Amino acid sequence: MPRDRIRLKSLWDRITDAEEAALHVRDGMTVGMSGFTRAGDAKAVPAAIAARALHDPLKITLMTGASLGGNVDRELTEAKALARRLPFQADPTLRSAINRGEVMFIDQHLSETVELLRSRQMGPVDVAIVEAAAITEEGGIIPTTSVGNTATFAILAEKVIVELNLSQPAALEGLHDIYIPTRRPHRDPIPVLQPESRPGVPYIPVDPAKIAAIVVTDRTDSAASILPGDADTTAIAGHLTEFLQSEVRKGRLGPSLSPLQAGIGSIANAVMQGLADGPFSGLTMYSEVLQDSTFDLFDAGCLRFASGSSITLGPERQRDVLNRLEHYKPKLVLRPQEVSNHPEVVRRLGVIAVNTALEFDIYGNVNSTHVGGTHMMNGVGGSGDFARNAYMSIFVTKSLAKGGTISSVVPMVSHVDHCEHDVDILVTEVGLADLRGLAPRERAATIIRNCVHPTYRELASDYFKAASARGGHTPHLLEEAFSWHLRLRETGSMLPRQTVLA
Ligand code: COA
Repeated sequence: MPRDRIRLKSLWDRITDAEEAALHVRDGMTVGMSGFTRAGDAKAVPAAIAARALHDPLKITLMTGASLGGNVDRELTEAKALARRLPFQADPTLRSAINRGEVMFIDQHLSETVELLRSRQMGPVDVAIVEAAAITEEGGIIPTTSVGNTATFAILAEKVIVELNLSQPAALEGLHDIYIPTRRPHRDPIPVLQPESRPGVPYIPVDPAKIAAIVVTDRTDSAASILPGDADTTAIAGHLTEFLQSEVRKGRLGPSLSPLQAGIGSIANAVMQGLADGPFSGLTMYSEVLQDSTFDLFDAGCLRFASGSSITLGPERQRDVLNRLEHYKPKLVLRPQEVSNHPEVVRRLGVIAVNTALEFDIYGNVNSTHVGGTHMMNGVGGSGDFARNAYMSIFVTKSLAKGGTISSVVPMVSHVDHCEHDVDILVTEVGLADLRGLAPRERAATIIRNCVHPTYRELASDYFKAASARGGHTPHLLEEAFSWHLRLRETGSMLPRQTVLA
């Protein structure tokens, strides 16, 4: 019964329907919504806003934790209700609108959004729309499968709309740790000293007077659309496992390594799954999104604890984990994304960060976001929060994309998300390049030898030789640096016409 989950009885009279609640959102407003990589997103009210916008035009600035599930971003885009969107998205319809210049997308490090709001460098937030599993006796909001930016949106917003989702298990209560960093410039150190630290409270503290509406729903989270691993991801996982084993042999890491972070997407998920086959035990994760691989590692007995900001799972794993939540709960915590991704904590814990590149260049600069240097894919997400501050920053990608017409290793990346200074290890199915302590010319030789697909290796090598002959600390032929991208645009392939795929 919904009322059992609203333990502050004075809020019972705020229960209303999604259409009525959506009326609190008006043209020009800034709206902060729960939701992080499809998990714990508000579902009914955003759909009602989109439906209303079809006949009663309005435009909002929409902030979330990260990507939303269902069709929320698509429906809001089709209703032309989005003026601005931040800090991350992964919806094809919205992506096209962004790339047509119709929606202004602000691609942000995920740890930074609420810092900008709190210090009033952005905002204010007019309405927060947040999914909850329950409301406590004091009006505290119990989040569901993600925390993301929800806590700060709710704390800062003028009005809060709660979507009480009865499909989310009541057992979620107790899973979250809501710690809000104190004000700068005299901020206290964030007291997260290990992945399992719980310095906060298990609910979002809000003034109940701000709760303007409660909408009861039973829509489930959208399942992740992660592709299964293949020969290439198995090979990438193999190279990484072998490398981490060698770090253990050299005494640089213990058998439980250092807390692991794994980025979003099919490749990172498959690579983490591959670690289950390694000799590691007592592993921990200090990550952002906990994907299927986290629970595979738990079930394989090699993962001891996982800290994240959301749980985003494929359909089968979603049913399994929610049904057996009590089994996993003692080994899990979900935090605000500013804490899960906080540079201070990532650096303190010595996180091993594994994220995915769209492309990287022969010197180790990484592009995770822009196809062809101009067109947004998803966003930088938390990859920069982790990569910049990690004990070891690893980027993985397949060496080829789109049937071999694209080499993921290029002379110069067409957009830089992670510069050479933030990148330690690169891995493709071809091999692994350990760039630590190497100068640019050494990095290029290692990357070309170990990571470039054989079809493109000679081309890359010729480029590097010619550039080196011309000189420089980081040699380039500026007139040719983007020639592979240009050839792709002009001919549909980065390969010169006469070359065939090896
Ligand atoms: N140029 C153009 N397209 C490329 C490409 C390149 N160099 N490399 C890959 N792609 C395409 C793939 O062909 C695929 O296209 P499709 O969807 O049409 O099939 C798409 O990009 C996704 O690539 P895929 O190989 O399936 O990898 P993925 O699902 O692991 O996603 C990223 C890879 C980079 C898009 C994804 O990890 C991402 O958005 N990263 C940025 C955010 C991030 O790292 N967050 C981490 C903290 S959680």
